[in-house]
Amino acid sequence: MEACECIKTRRSIRGFRPDPVPRAVLEDVISTAQWSPSYKNSQPWKVMVLSGKKKEQLSELLVREYENGTAPCPDIPEPLSWPADEAGRIAALYKMRSDATGINFEDPAILRKAKIANFNFYRAPHAVYLYQEASLTPWSLFDLGLFAQSLMLAAHAKGLGTVPQAFATDYARITKEFLNIPLTKRLVLGISIGYPDPDSPANAFRTGRAGLDEAVTWVE
Ligand SMILES: Cc1cc2nc3c(=O)[nH]c(=O)nc-3n(C[C@H](O)[C@H](O)[C@H](O)COP(=O)(O)O)c2cc1C
Repeated sequence: MEACECIKTRRSIRGFRPDPVPRAVLEDVISTAQWSPSYKNSQPWKVMVLSGKKKEQLSELLVREYENGTAPCPDIPEPLSWPADEAGRIAALYKMRSDATGINFEDPAILRKAKIANFNFYRAPHAVYLYQEASLTPWSLFDLGLFAQSLMLAAHAKGLGTVPQAFATDYARITKEFLNIPLTKRLVLGISIGYPDPDSPANAFRTGRAGLDEAVTWVE
């Protein structure tokens, strides 16, 4: 797939077929992402791929924490508030999603369902966790973000679907303990991965993007 087409047609997939992805395909996707650039080629990312029983057990654990009312404590906190431009785009996203699906995303019952769907990795056959040494600075977080995008693009080029999930890091400490990831690591992102289910209503929605005028200043 041509690079620009790959970037423009990737989108978050939240409905998956149950078929597992062959190990060789996952290895190919991850080794492609390994070619991402990083500060001084430090490659500050670690990848854990969960499948089968272990993934199911983690989902059960996360749902239990949520149902028990445990306050989320991700290693990278969610912003307490968003600046006006970003807040406007988030509001537009929720409105578009509501209009497209008829679901009110501000309804607490829907929010609960959405959280649980996240913790179940949207029923994808695999979940990937990206993590790194917690002592690293934001430059390394930046590098890990590049790696994440490369991974999602490589997956898309191979006909796989992905969704990046901050929510999958809500209970960072117990997730790391369960996965035997040292507590000295920073749990950055979960990514569900598998073959997209084209009939899933969760995949019917396509987000938009701001015009260039909102992002770019041309200087001569
Ligand atoms: C860092 C990051 C965290 C995200 N966390 C979640 C999440 O927890 N759950 C979810 O369903 N989507 C999550 N998303 C997906 C975004 O909602 C999605 O990328 C955005 O709406 C743009 O849509 P698109 O990916 O289909 O282009 C996350 C995306 C990023 C980059």
